[in-house]
Amino acid sequence: MNRFVAKSIVIGVISFWMIVSASASYAEDTVVFENAEFNHQCFKCHGQKTYHYFNEASGKVVKDRMNPYFVMDSIAFYQSNHKSFMCTDCHSSDYENFPHNGELRMEQKFNCMDCHGGDDTYAQYQFERIEEEFQASVHSTKHSDEFTCWMCHNPHSYKINARNNDNINNVIVYDNNICLSCHANLDKYQLISDLTNPNVLITHEWLPNQALHFSKVRCIECHTEIDKEMLIAHKVQVKEKAVRRCVECHSQNSLLMATLYKFETAEKRNKLGFFNATILSDHYIIGANRNYYLNIASLIIFGFVLLGITIHAIIRIMTK
Ligand code: HEC
Ligand code: HEC
Ligand code: HEC
Ligand code: HEC
Ligand code: HEC
Ligand code: HEC
Ligand code: HEC
Repeated sequence: MNRFVAKSIVIGVISFWMIVSASASYAEDTVVFENAEFNHQCFKCHGQKTYHYFNEASGKVVKDRMNPYFVMDSIAFYQSNHKSFMCTDCHSSDYENFPHNGELRMEQKFNCMDCHGGDDTYAQYQFERIEEEFQASVHSTKHSDEFTCWMCHNPHSYKINARNNDNINNVIVYDNNICLSCHANLDKYQLISDLTNPNVLITHEWLPNQALHFSKVRCIECHTEIDKEMLIAHKVQVKEKAVRRCVECHSQNSLLMATLYKFETAEKRNKLGFFNATILSDHYIIGANRNYYLNIASLIIFGFVLLGITIHAIIRIMTK
């Protein structure tokens, strides 16, 4: 009998624990889930290539194609910084009606600073400083009105990377794709400018093994003014100020240590005598990854060679 009671208690405790943990994980999911249900009414049309609506005049359900630029990837949205949002947190709630009222396209969109400006919760990102640098950038000074933060930060998919992602190669690809979304795509580029040559592959032909460089360094390494205090410098400068000299990276005090690798710890920096050792886990960069001991060893060998030659010469002179 006692055994039976003990067993029941154990089973009771286990099932109680299972219910509690299940409901806890359910609660975690529901934050997203609640709005997902609301957002589904938008994704039903904006999540696919075709959509349906009921035409009251003809009494029929009509199937039509969605403008491809208005199709959103729901998976990317629910992984983005703003995954907890309802679509109507940023867009007018009148969008719940279809057909959408034509006036809605004139709606004033929020910008980043409307929500993030002066908010201590986001102090680590230094939004104010980013805004300042952006205002001074070539994009903003030439096209202040059309060029907003949203041009680089897709409202429906942007997700912080450099700060959270340990895989430096993925960060490089992610960040470069932000720039290439215009500089390799005429459709988007021409929203801003009538110029017709965004082909950076041609304008960077001077860079040897360009494909390798573009997958191992970011555009912003060469094109922004280095800012020690910030993880991502935002002041994109005119092309004349871009980094062109190979030694800026291929040297002991490589600029990459002030950009891509800026937050690596001092211990990781000079490991086993390698300068900038932290880079070594991802790349070997000619010039930047020289080894202290190898440098000394080569000096010593060089010294012995000189000594050998001198002794040899002296002996020759003496035996003559
Ligand atoms: C029945 C399908 C349907 C539903 C549901 C729907 N939309 Fe749309 N939406 C469209 C179509 C079609 C367009 C393009 C034509 C137009 O503007 O009416 C569009 C355009 C838009 C635009 C772009 C307007 C512009 O011209 O810049 C936004 C923003 C938008 N919808 C937001 C939403 C939001 C937010 C929801 C959910 C609350 C939603 N839509 C629900 C079909 C739909
Ligand atoms: C964080 C704010 C934010 C959220 C959340 C948001 N949008 Fe947007 N949306 C914007 C902004 C800003 C633009 C204008 C983009 C631009 O100017 O490049 C936009 C543009 C659009 C457009 C027009 C297409 C385009 O790229 O210009 C559609 C359609 C749209 N949003 C639908 C949605 C739907 C559907 C959702 C919910 C799944 C949603 N949006 C959630 C901010 C948001
Ligand atoms: C309508 C208000 C609004 C706008 C506009 C907006 N944000 Fe946000 N953003 C928020 C809120 C609220 C959160 C927190 C969301 C959460 O925790 O689920 C957030 C989260 C973030 C985060 C993640 C913060 C963290 O620590 O997890 C980043 C980064 C971010 N936003 C950047 C931007 C950028 C860049 C823009 C403009 C391109 C922008 N936001 C526009 C309200 C906004
Ligand atoms: C020319 C393109 C471009 C423009 C314009 C731009 N950004 Fe960025 N921003 C980037 C890139 C690239 C990153 C790096 C993304 C990553 O890896 O997280 C970034 C990162 C960020 C981050 C994350 C920084 C961190 O410390 O983690 C914030 C916040 C941000 N941008 C805000 C803004 C705001 C606010 C504006 C407008 C005032 C803006 N950005 C305009 C390209 C741009
Ligand atoms: C190794 C440094 C370096 C890297 C990496 C780099 N650039 Fe450049 N870029 C330069 C230099 C130097 C110039 C000036 C070339 C000239 O004046 O002929 C330039 C020119 C440009 C120009 C102006 C010329 C044109 O094509 O219209 C653009 C735009 C540009 N780069 C965008 C990018 C983008 C986008 C990336 C990332 C995919 C990138 N750059 C990567 C150094 C670099
Ligand atoms: C929304 C589209 C768009 C995005 C995204 C974008 N650019 Fe640009 N960029 C332009 C346009 C348009 C110009 C041409 C400006 C002009 O000369 O009128 C330009 C010009 C430039 C120039 C050349 C300035 C000169 O002196 O001719 C550089 C360098 C540059 N961008 C780098 C970048 C980098 C780096 C990124 C990513 C962090 C980036 N761009 C993202 C549209 C974009
Ligand atoms: C912004 C930094 C930067 C600049 C500027 C730069 N490089 Fe590089 N370079 C790198 C990186 C990062 C690698 C990749 C190392 C790896 O992972 O293999 C690399 C690789 C190379 C390689 C090796 C290619 C191979 O096939 O293995 C050569 C050669 C090279 N760079 C030459 C140059 C020359 C010449 C210049 C000047 C015209 C230059 N680099 C400018 C960062 C830079």
